[in-house]
Amino acid sequence: MESLQSIQGVSLTHNMMEDLARMTAPWPEGKIFVIFDENTFHHCWPLVRGFRPLNENRFVILKSGEANKSIDQVIRAWELLGTNEIDRSSMIINIGGGMLTDLGGFLASTIKRGVAFINIPTTLLAMVDASVGGKSGFNFRGLKNEIGVIREPQHVFIHLPFLRTLAPQEVLSGFAEMLKAGLIADRNLWNDLKGFDPEAWDEVRLSDLVWRSVLVKKRIVDADLHETGLRKALNFGHTIGHALESEALRRGNPVPHGYAVAWGMVFEAHLSGLRLGLSDGAIREITDVVNKFYGPVPAELIDSDLLISWMRSDKKNSDNQLNFTLLGDIGTCRVNCIATEEEIRSLLSR
Ligand code: GLY
Repeated sequence: MESLQSIQGVSLTHNMMEDLARMTAPWPEGKIFVIFDENTFHHCWPLVRGFRPLNENRFVILKSGEANKSIDQVIRAWELLGTNEIDRSSMIINIGGGMLTDLGGFLASTIKRGVAFINIPTTLLAMVDASVGGKSGFNFRGLKNEIGVIREPQHVFIHLPFLRTLAPQEVLSGFAEMLKAGLIADRNLWNDLKGFDPEAWDEVRLSDLVWRSVLVKKRIVDADLHETGLRKALNFGHTIGHALESEALRRGNPVPHGYAVAWGMVFEAHLSGLRLGLSDGAIREITDVVNKFYGPVPAELIDSDLLISWMRSDKKNSDNQLNFTLLGDIGTCRVNCIATEEEIRSLLSR
């Protein structure tokens, strides 16, 4: 591989076309299918399309947007893939953000009981989180990623130039998952992220920070792909974050995933103080960094009853218990921490 950085299953590449040509060489042209959404077909495919000639009959262009992460799109794509004679020796290339790599991974994992697939994430969130680790699926009955499977891609190619067209809000949304990676497992990464300005666009520094964040995620999923224990570390900030995200969506005023996670990390840092003795200094530091990048949590989202009921419907929680990953210190965490409803209420009313 000519990549800048590479480990088993993931590369950070500045030679996207060469690396992709090499990786897909064993598959004849007629066996390769490409899944995009409308945006990535127009904005990202031009950066890749020269890697080898492909038959455009085998392109599947999905509708973009979280509302389209649905069974209807899955059925439409299954039909297109079937009509164009996908078989078990085919290869699917998914090009897009987290919604697309989640849907494309699900399609690849289910059609013909599973074909090989490559993820090419085009948003920061997908690069550092969604495209790595094999979680895939779609939303159902109003619940995010309610139906899905865990099955890893053959490879993930991370190519920073895709990010140049993203809105600053989208970059910041992915940046929150990088902050999380530092907080749960790598204090040096956290320290370097704290002083970084994602909007200043220093691609060399950003690629180093992206790669170190991916290494945190990959190390965790390699140890616990099916989330029986350690992988829950990646849920730091997400128990409350998902509830905030769902509540914002219900109010018709959605917030980007990463913003909700960042605000969730502040609440869960406070809970870490209560439960694991995370120091006041560390809690203040986390709060200041999140405020600097994301501002304070919108007051209208803080409705304890509603947030607790969202948490109860989250698949992270079972047996009527609310499950958290909490920090013992910056850079170390503990999974399966249970908090009572009273503790969460007191946290939300601070
Ligand atoms: N996004 C969290 C995980 O992949 O487990």
